[in-house]
Amino acid sequence: MNTIGTLFRFTDFGESHGPAIGGVIDGMPPGIDIDFDAINVELQRRRPGQSFVTTQRKEADEVEWLSGIFEGKTLGTPVAFIIRNTNARSEDYSNMADSYRPNHADYTYDAKYGIRDWRGGGRSSARETAARVVAGALARQVLAAKGIEIMAWTSRIGKISTDIVPASRDEVEASIVRCPDLGNSARMEKAIADARAERDSLGGIVSCVITGVPTGLGEPVFGKLQSMLASAMMSINAAKGFEYGDGFAASTMRGSRSIDPFVAEDGKIKTTSNHSGGIQGGISNGADINFNVAFKPIATMARPLPTVNRKGENIELTVTGRHDICVVPRAVPVVEAMAAIVILDALMLSGKM
Ligand SMILES: Cc1cc2nc3c(=O)[nH]c(=O)nc-3n(C[C@H](O)[C@H](O)[C@H](O)COP(=O)(O)O)c2cc1C
Repeated sequence: MNTIGTLFRFTDFGESHGPAIGGVIDGMPPGIDIDFDAINVELQRRRPGQSFVTTQRKEADEVEWLSGIFEGKTLGTPVAFIIRNTNARSEDYSNMADSYRPNHADYTYDAKYGIRDWRGGGRSSARETAARVVAGALARQVLAAKGIEIMAWTSRIGKISTDIVPASRDEVEASIVRCPDLGNSARMEKAIADARAERDSLGGIVSCVITGVPTGLGEPVFGKLQSMLASAMMSINAAKGFEYGDGFAASTMRGSRSIDPFVAEDGKIKTTSNHSGGIQGGISNGADINFNVAFKPIATMARPLPTVNRKGENIELTVTGRHDICVVPRAVPVVEAMAAIVILDALMLSGKM
């Protein structure tokens, strides 16, 4: 199950400390002029070592294109690419070969497969999300030509949150934690620095808005647009919650406060509010689509943690190596990438391409 999508299909492969990670995309329309710089910008936003709030592992994250692109344009044939792993320090993880890091995938991979590549977390590492970012950046270029834009940002880190919705990508990128509220952004940076000093970690929320979506995307009943988005978002490492529109808060509201009244304006049907996050009955209604993804605190901390080894003995495990304190700033481009992959597939399925 390493493929997502029906008509725009992305297959993701690779382990964290193997020779490379990469992807194959089927369904990329032919004749698209690829903006390679834009793809690199997205990879740089996900890259480790970009600022003091992220892990200091340094990866060049250069894409090698193997198929599907000729003279800068897509051919309509499978687009295949790899990104080599150049900065793997497998020795940092040697004590993980025989023990299970709590809240990681070491135990469940072993229980399921009876074998695992323990170096850097192997296949369970978020290293593979770089391939998602490349596929998402390609999908995004097709969507932009159709007037569909995707923007995500950090709306919570630990206990610090903001309701500010950014007006542009520049407002998000002005802060190293990718929070458009500069006052709270500084507090988030401090919270990450404090957690690091206390050898602890933090979780948070990535919010996302998709604009320019036509009505009619989503295939009820098992391909509802919110189901596709939820499935894609919940496949991101460390994602623990998904809500769209008012989400869980809607359960505490009265109906009179949560409906989105329709109005006819210039011959078009619109809603005067957007509590339902742009999706009704699993189908886009033409309003902005908005959703939140909650991420857990990083499970790896620079302190001994109680766990069990492969022999079934109770032990204390201290994992060395270079780790994030909070995934949220680096998860922002991954959320956007997964949204682009889902929306392009939904657009193709709806026949509106
Ligand atoms: C962009 C990104 C970076 C991550 N970096 C780390 C990290 O440095 N250290 C770590 O322990 N977990 C990190 N994670 C989370 C782990 O990959 C994840 O918690 C682990 O594989 C277990 O999967 P689960 O949390 O989905 O159950 C990261 C996740 C993302 C999305």
